[in-house]
Amino acid sequence: MSNIESVLNETRVFEPSAEFVKQANVSGMAGYQALCKAAEQDYAGFWAKLARETLQWKKPFTKSLNESNAPFFKWFEDGELNVSYNCLDKHLAGQPEKTAIIFEADDGKVTKINYRDLHARACQFANGLKSRGIRKGDRVIIYMPMSIEAVVAMQACARIGAIHSVVFGGFSARSLHERITDAQACAVITADAQMRGGKVMPLKPAVDEALAMGGCEMVHSVIVYQRAKPDTVRPDTAWNAQHDIWWHDLVLGQSTACEPEWVGAEHPLFILYTSGSTGRPKGVQHSSGGYLLGAMLSMQWVFDYKAGDIFWCTADVGWVTGHTYVAYGPLAMGATQVVFEGIPTYPDAGRFWKMIQNHKVTTFYTAPTAIRSLIKLGGELPRQYDLSSLRLLGTVGEPINPEAWMWYYNTVGQARCPIVDTWWQTETGCHMIAPLPGAMPIKPGSCTLPLPGIIATIVNEAGDEVHDQHGGFLVIKRPFPSQIRTIWGDPERYKNGYFPEEMRGYYLAGDSAHRDEDGYFWIMGRIDDVLKVSGHRLGTMEIESALVANPLVAEAAVVGKPHDIKGEAIVAFVVLKGARPADPATSAQLAETLRTWVAKTIGPIAKPDEIRFGDNLPKTRSGKIMRRLLRAIANGEEISQDVSTLENPAILEQLKNPVR
Ligand code: WTA
Repeated sequence: MSNIESVLNETRVFEPSAEFVKQANVSGMAGYQALCKAAEQDYAGFWAKLARETLQWKKPFTKSLNESNAPFFKWFEDGELNVSYNCLDKHLAGQPEKTAIIFEADDGKVTKINYRDLHARACQFANGLKSRGIRKGDRVIIYMPMSIEAVVAMQACARIGAIHSVVFGGFSARSLHERITDAQACAVITADAQMRGGKVMPLKPAVDEALAMGGCEMVHSVIVYQRAKPDTVRPDTAWNAQHDIWWHDLVLGQSTACEPEWVGAEHPLFILYTSGSTGRPKGVQHSSGGYLLGAMLSMQWVFDYKAGDIFWCTADVGWVTGHTYVAYGPLAMGATQVVFEGIPTYPDAGRFWKMIQNHKVTTFYTAPTAIRSLIKLGGELPRQYDLSSLRLLGTVGEPINPEAWMWYYNTVGQARCPIVDTWWQTETGCHMIAPLPGAMPIKPGSCTLPLPGIIATIVNEAGDEVHDQHGGFLVIKRPFPSQIRTIWGDPERYKNGYFPEEMRGYYLAGDSAHRDEDGYFWIMGRIDDVLKVSGHRLGTMEIESALVANPLVAEAAVVGKPHDIKGEAIVAFVVLKGARPADPATSAQLAETLRTWVAKTIGPIAKPDEIRFGDNLPKTRSGKIMRRLLRAIANGEEISQDVSTLENPAILEQLKNPVR
């Protein structure tokens, strides 16, 4: 809890400069408050007005919010539009030549594409998808490295009304299989390989492996983008001529025009799987109209987007941040954005700063983990580059500790650029609580105030609002356009998980938070069994399920512990089926075997940092694992709480002193 304590004591405040305020889309607190007031006075009307002004509709809507079947809310339901039209076609008349994407590959190679060509390629690929029989409502898995093609694939799906589900390229074949079968996808778009830090890492073999696990009979097409050398996929992996087709063969001869499929505003744009408190990830289903509205408004309000900006969000399209602030938001705004394939530390820890310099990036958005690791690997490096193009910085995904915030502010932003610390989730689709940088004074470690129209508050277990320093559960009181519509195939889980009865119909975010005397929100962390490891969302239950699936393991419990760079580290307590390892060497060897196993089962991001073996786990007499005790042990804390209800108190000593 140490970094949370330091957040609590933070008192520094940074006012926006007069210059920034003057040019801001929302200028001064008065500007912000006016928007909030408009939302308060006529909630549905506020959103309807914005939806009319911001989105281009094929058929205008007449209804704004429909709450009749709460919590299955609908927005703008009788309107029709196409998201890809709003991201691409819209710009063809006014700015076809404007660069849409500056793609920088792992090896530094830069490729630029303008709006006209991006539109042509999305259309051509959409026609390719149609030639495989893919239609509106079909689910398509996208398992690709960061590339122009990944964006094209997402846009092409949106264009024909197919529902994409992007699976992060770092996930394993098993995780991929789980998502293919849950979504009942009919096609997978992948690449032969991905490049990371100078290494070629095959990707297509994981698709082959996933399909071979069974239950994927509905997959009729595997479209393979050739990222690496022509021989990467063959001969070591199978090429199944029945369903495998190269991307370049698919688009051959396809027209570069493709009439968009006009869909209802509530038509699902995508499903994105994310971790919750059970062993199975949940498919968060988003809408078309409401989602895109949130993406665009937050680009204007939080990123203060201007036509001359060079926008760079470093997130992978495998995460929600890469959906909203790479694939959709910037394109819908007609922005020029940087898309990056590699890692921040290759060829050295100056990569980001060099790219900001070379591409004259104005708006830079990344994760606290990346910031912390770059401080450690080269805290002085930013000074070697010309970062004068920057005007706004942002963070997302985890709380940022004030020390990292100050470094980001002073060393990267040269005390000139406001930092927008944006709190949101896969489920919320876009920023929820974040500064409007020309309006709000900012405080290191606080995500400040909710966006206009977002009625966020903090409640106790009974659902009553609290205002003190102890804080409570973060909730959002009113439905909002960009929110999750349901969990794919599991409406009950959606209802029970996000709208539990005691919360009075509020959306329960799953985070704890408190407010300071200015009403600023400070996020304290998850209240459920979800970890944020390097900004990646992981369920402890998922990792436990992976561990117990290993034939050596009888039982496992996973907890998080604070980590300087990653935010949280994964600690697993494991009971083996056989005897507990007697010596440090065997223990280390077994731990390594299990770490590799988890990496193979879920993905390398889920590898436990530490594994401790015990003869048992601390349990109550009713058999419940006492996770709070395990957390204390993982953190090396003294156990102060009452352990008399434990079935087996002696186990604590054993777990405290693992064999080393
Ligand atoms: C955490 C990422 C503190 C939070 C967009 C949330 C944050 C979870 C912040 C969602 C922030 C996100 N400050 N914590 N600015 N942003 N979180 O679904 O715990 O990957 O519930 O979405 O990340 O993670 P997800």
